[in-house]
Amino acid sequence: MVHHLIAIAADHGGFRLKTALVAFLHDAGHDVRDLGCPNADRVDYPDYAHDVCAEVIAGRARFGVLICGTGVGMAIAANRHPEIRCAQASEATTARLTRAHNDANVIALAGRLIGEELAFDILTAFLSTKFDGGRHTARLAKLMPREFA
Ligand code: RB5
Repeated sequence: MVHHLIAIAADHGGFRLKTALVAFLHDAGHDVRDLGCPNADRVDYPDYAHDVCAEVIAGRARFGVLICGTGVGMAIAANRHPEIRCAQASEATTARLTRAHNDANVIALAGRLIGEELAFDILTAFLSTKFDGGRHTARLAKLMPREFA
């Protein structure tokens, strides 16, 4: 697999899974930047989503990984950034297809709902799949609502 620069962060709902994922990504040879949270104390997930997105938008990370209880709050926050295409995934097929079809650059995971092994498979699929381009490219250009385009 190609090795990537990855920014990762979690709130308290994702802290435990993040710890496992940082080790997994590191062992797989990726360059991992852990942006917190540093422990299981309660924090606000948007703060962490925006930090990871800033790394991806600035080109300091190729991909972002966000973990909260459901992955949903992180995905909502991440997708407020026009440059970010974030998918919440709880199985590997969605992770693969969101890279192939949506050119997703951030993935959001449910720390309270999925186990480590499943999360490893999801991330492996996400990180090893290339954007298909072609017919999907024009669709990405239409992602912005018309009033903002
Ligand atoms: C925190 O309790 C929880 O709301 C958060 O981790 C996440 O699931 C939000 O979408």
